[in-house]
Amino acid sequence: MARPFIAGNWKMFKSVADTIRYVAEFRALVADVHDVDIVIAPPFLALHSAAEAAQGSNIGVAAQTLHWEREGAFTGEVSGPMVREAGATFVIIGHSERRTLFGETDAAVNRKVMAAIAATLTPIVCVGETLDQRERNETFEVLDRQLKTGLDGLTGEQLAQLVVAYEPVWAIGTGRNATPAQAAEAHGHLRTRLRQWFGAPAADACRLLYGGSVKPDNIAELIRQSDVDGALVGGASLDPRNFAEIVYRSRQATV
Ligand code: 13P
Repeated sequence: MARPFIAGNWKMFKSVADTIRYVAEFRALVADVHDVDIVIAPPFLALHSAAEAAQGSNIGVAAQTLHWEREGAFTGEVSGPMVREAGATFVIIGHSERRTLFGETDAAVNRKVMAAIAATLTPIVCVGETLDQRERNETFEVLDRQLKTGLDGLTGEQLAQLVVAYEPVWAIGTGRNATPAQAAEAHGHLRTRLRQWFGAPAADACRLLYGGSVKPDNIAELIRQSDVDGALVGGASLDPRNFAEIVYRSRQATV
């Protein structure tokens, strides 16, 4: 089992002051955890403060999106180099909320992945089906399309560094997580496709996270599934003790 990768997506929650308080408390809680990759993704405005507060710790910082251009007349947008300079080393790309609420397409995801790599940010690329799509038996087809277009043009070497998050839309913020069997099935499918497209060594090095109503109570069972290398946590990452508990349990489940 690979080293677990646990990321907290804060979405549009927490001010700069909240972020500084959170990181001070959280870094103490996870100070002794050296066998888990831990990442938090605050809103843009708090990225720099988060990175400063996390300096010298085992906590990485991620942005929640980025624009694919380095700079230009794109009112309201933030670029990869800006995010990197603020101290982030990861960036979430193609989250289902970006796709459904802000019209992000698979082609846009692809441009953002390339921009992230160019800015030396590690992309965390999100894919996942809606409930309708699952009920119509289209899950694999949807995942294939999102992944194929989203990762188009990547080399095996680049894929090996990448993080992919499987987040079934019906499980996000609903309290209804995918069953361990459903997660294992989807992750197995993703790994198979990545092997076909990029070769086994690169595909096996790419970390596959599960996201959607992950909590301290279900992390162990989910992360024990083959091809589940970690989790992308929304609501349960907003409280530092809760999130630290998820980190602890992910590690106990994999020893
Ligand atoms: P919840 O953990 O709140 O369901 O959110 C999952 C998510 O969207 C993480 O990116």
